[in-house]
Amino acid sequence: MAITTNDFEYLRFLVRNKSGIALESDKQYLTETRLMPIVRQEGIGTVEQLLAAMRREQPSGRLHTMVTEAFATKETYFFRDTFVFEALEKLVLPDIINNKRSLAIWSAACSSGQEPYTIAMILAETFPFTENRTVKIIASDFSKGILDRARKGNYTRVEISRGLSSCLQKKYFQKQGLTWQIKNNIRKKVEFRNINLLEVWPPLPDMDVIFLRNVLIYFDINNRKMILDKVLRVLKPGGWLFVGTAETPNRLNSHFEQIRHGGAVIYRRKMYGANCSDG
Ligand SMILES: C[S@@+](CC[C@H](N)C(=O)[O-])C[C@H]1O[C@@H](n2cnc3c(N)ncnc32)[C@H](O)[C@@H]1O
Repeated sequence: MAITTNDFEYLRFLVRNKSGIALESDKQYLTETRLMPIVRQEGIGTVEQLLAAMRREQPSGRLHTMVTEAFATKETYFFRDTFVFEALEKLVLPDIINNKRSLAIWSAACSSGQEPYTIAMILAETFPFTENRTVKIIASDFSKGILDRARKGNYTRVEISRGLSSCLQKKYFQKQGLTWQIKNNIRKKVEFRNINLLEVWPPLPDMDVIFLRNVLIYFDINNRKMILDKVLRVLKPGGWLFVGTAETPNRLNSHFEQIRHGGAVIYRRKMYGANCSDG
């Protein structure tokens, strides 16, 4: 049975408040599919009973968190949009590495880790000398469940086949039964953190590059603007911002200029008002 419009409105409010994700009314049909795994896992009879249990719970409670996270789309894969990673390798990283001894990259909304591990593999493959430099790759997501998966770095056959050449599969993964484990030399390069983009951000190092891909699309325009304003507090002047192909920060924030490289559209924080950045 489909949930009532009243229940859908309640879910919509909850999900928006906790994650910023704006559920459109035409997504009502998704509700059953997203909530049934929780109903089963928690041994609650029906979606209606799950919603009743949530109404008795504090908004900070476990069910609220599980339900909110269930509505987040986690789709990701290695080298997603190859042209983006070509731009990182051919334009962005050389620009930073030739001028500075340190490098800080943040993959915000990293899902199960394929994005930050792709970055770590590119550094190992093309810039192995950065081993001797201060390199920080921070990866974050608001879902603790997905972060646990990312931290483990353990992938199914389908997941490692998506985007990874067989050469990179062999070089950086070890078969463990039916799954593939990312090797420690790559895994330990990424520091995972639980950050909700909508809430107060913890202290972060000044970033040279921020990946904020395929997450802004789920937020309404006010939250997108708010997050981009916060990006400016963390991204160094001249720093680079990668967003998803359908996302256009320069329309919402005048501090970014658009740069094209191959098929990729990247954004760069304008230099004016720049602080001195150290090397
Ligand atoms: C579609 S995935 C994108 C993964 C990766 N960036 C990519 O492009 O392949 C979106 C991710 O955003 C996360 N997310 C959604 N709302 C968030 C929020 N308010 N704060 C932090 N992460 C959020 C989801 O948990 C999910 O892992």
